[in-house]
Amino acid sequence: MVIMEIEAIIYDLDGVITDTAEYHFLAWKALADELNIPFDRSFNEQLKGLSRIDSLEIILQQSNQTYSEEEKQRLAAKKNEHYQKLIQKISPEDLLPGVESFMKEVKQAGIKTGLASASKNAQTVIERLQVTDLLDTLVDAAKVERGKPDPEVFLTAAKQLGVPAACCVGIEDASSGVKAIKAAGMYAVGVGEREYLGQADWVISDTSHLALDSLAKKINEHKKA
Ligand code: BG6
Ligand code: MG
Repeated sequence: MVIMEIEAIIYDLDGVITDTAEYHFLAWKALADELNIPFDRSFNEQLKGLSRIDSLEIILQQSNQTYSEEEKQRLAAKKNEHYQKLIQKISPEDLLPGVESFMKEVKQAGIKTGLASASKNAQTVIERLQVTDLLDTLVDAAKVERGKPDPEVFLTAAKQLGVPAACCVGIEDASSGVKAIKAAGMYAVGVGEREYLGQADWVISDTSHLALDSLAKKINEHKKA
């Protein structure tokens, strides 16, 4: 059975394991409103998966004002303070539908698991969700030099798991994240709308569709194609 060939599954965090993508959106929206910069959900799509400072740069490009490095640091810190308030109450109830059962199914199948997140808050969120035991390794923004769409965060996770990239599956909700998975040479599962996840090998509308048998079937079809 083809499942034997999946040796590791590497999850993105925000928007895949839990809905913190919504909290990032709300925190950026508050900052953009304060700065009188237009910002909506469609614009936010391009920020998903990007580092805090890269996201801020893209938002500030919409302004006709210039901001000093110091001011940018202050604005990024302000967004993070707001974000940290929003995630304070995260609990296991905030795991997205089907995620916990999928993570357990993966573990029970003997497949290795990793987290590849662009967030410096990843460790905190994972602890609050109480899924630390379901992950063999955690790679976050603090551990890599280059952010998504660069493949470094996924490749580092694969390396730490001792699994070749070609035997890894990455799961992402962001366009930049799917690009990172594909650049790493892994099979990419996109969670969300095809419109934003063009490069993904398999797109599911939400996490409730995550299942090992469906994944194996899709990988099989992909190999035959
Ligand atoms: C990613 C999110 O996981 O982390 C981005 O998709 C976010 O939206 C990035 O900007 C950085 O997060 P943090 O917590 O370090 O500001
Ligand atoms: Mg994400």
